[in-house]
Parts: sequence; structure tokens; C-alpha cells
Amino acid sequence: MIDTHSHILPELDDGSENIEQSMDFIVQAMKQGVKVMFATPHCCDGVYDCTKKEILTAWQFLCEAVDREGLDIQILPGAEIRVNHDLVTRYDAGDLLTLGETSRFLLLELPPMFIMNAFLRMVRQLTERGITPIIAHAERNPMIIARPELAADLISTGAELQITAGSLKGDFGRAPRKTAKTLVQNNQVFCLGSDIHPGRKYRMKAARKFLNKAGSRVQTEKIVRENPEKILKECVDQFILDDQVFMIG
Ligand SMILES: [Fe+2]
Repeated sequence: MIDTHSHILPELDDGSENIEQSMDFIVQAMKQGVKVMFATPHCCDGVYDCTKKEILTAWQFLCEAVDREGLDIQILPGAEIRVNHDLVTRYDAGDLLTLGETSRFLLLELPPMFIMNAFLRMVRQLTERGITPIIAHAERNPMIIARPELAADLISTGAELQITAGSLKGDFGRAPRKTAKTLVQNNQVFCLGSDIHPGRKYRMKAARKFLNKAGSRVQTEKIVRENPEKILKECVDQFILDDQVFMIG
């Protein structure tokens, strides 16, 4: 599996508090069958505004620790970028880190309330630049919970949706669980993320099991592996999944 959303970089945001906790999260992920994790600290959210340089420095530090321990997992850099009015301007200025640094996928976090038309305009502006926005934990956004039909407009405009593994198990309450199920039933989920933070359970394995029960294995594989591989293919020379080595280019 590929975890497309995690807060495992130490001492950057409200995620991992130190390198030991980072390694603990990574070991949990490995035990659950995760082979690749995108480390996506908060950016531009009014509290945390990790710069590209800070993220890449912390990522290198973590990768060195993973190598030292000889852990069989690939960690890639990224960011969870809060949508603000200046999103596109900041992208154009080169301030925003895409998933894996070189992919064309940008992980975005919507504020609880937003103006749909204004955001759709941003999605269009980003897609014109070749970027595919991925909406982080779409099922936890109050406006999408109230109107799940917004998901179709976001997707038809060029965005993709990510859900949090724990939402499928009710970790964030009934409404996000219900919305996550609706998005899965409607085949609107592009990928899954643990969104692991201190105090939360790592739920990728449980979520995969839930998806297999709720829908088809084909859809599950798309969500946990095949779609995230599209991101991977844009940011690494080779990757290993299910003990197979895939060379890129
Ligand atoms: Fe997050």
C-alpha cells in the first residue's frame, strides 16, 4: 500500500514530536503492509507554514535514519497545503511542494467553509498549469459532509479526492464515516492516507479490509496502490511494490 498523507517529519508541525516517534509511525506502517509513505506536513494553514526547504531538510534527516535502521520502506516528501486566496500565486512563486517534489500532484486542505466557485476557479488555474490538486480528507470537510454532491463538481473540474483511513472506522465521528462511505460507493476516491498524528491510530490495514468488504477488490487496489502509483511514477526512478521492482523512464 501507499500512504499518501502523513505527519511523520519530526518537529515541523503538530505531527511527529521527535525522530523516535517518526520511526515508530514508520514501523507501524510497515507492519500494516505500507511500502511507500508521503510525508506531508501542514503548510499555509495560519499556524504552520513549513517552507519547502524546511520540509526537504527534515525529510533527508528522516530518510537517513530509515536507511541506518535498514527499513524496507520508501519515504517521499510532500506538503498538506491549506487553500488560501493566494494559493495559485504561491504556486507560481515556486513556494509549494508537490507530492514527491517532482510530481504534478498537489495535496490541498480545504478550510471548513469555502466559496465553491472561487475554489473551482483555483482548480482550473492549477490544472491549466498541469497540476492535479488532491483534496485531503474530503470526507471531513463540513461543506462536503453537508453536500456530498460537491464531490462530483470537484472531480469534473480536475481535482481528485483523498480520504483518511481512520474515517472509514469512525475515528472522526459518524458524519465523516458516512461521507467517506458515500464517496467510496460513488467511486470518487482517488487515494487513501493515514493522516497519522500523535494520538491517532494507524489505520491503513483496517481501511483496506473495510474497502475490500464494502466494494470490489479492483476498486480497493486502485485506491491503495494503483492511483498513488501514478504519483510515484512522476517522482522516483524506481519503486518496489509487492516485491517487484518497477523502473521508470
Ligand atoms: Fe494532515
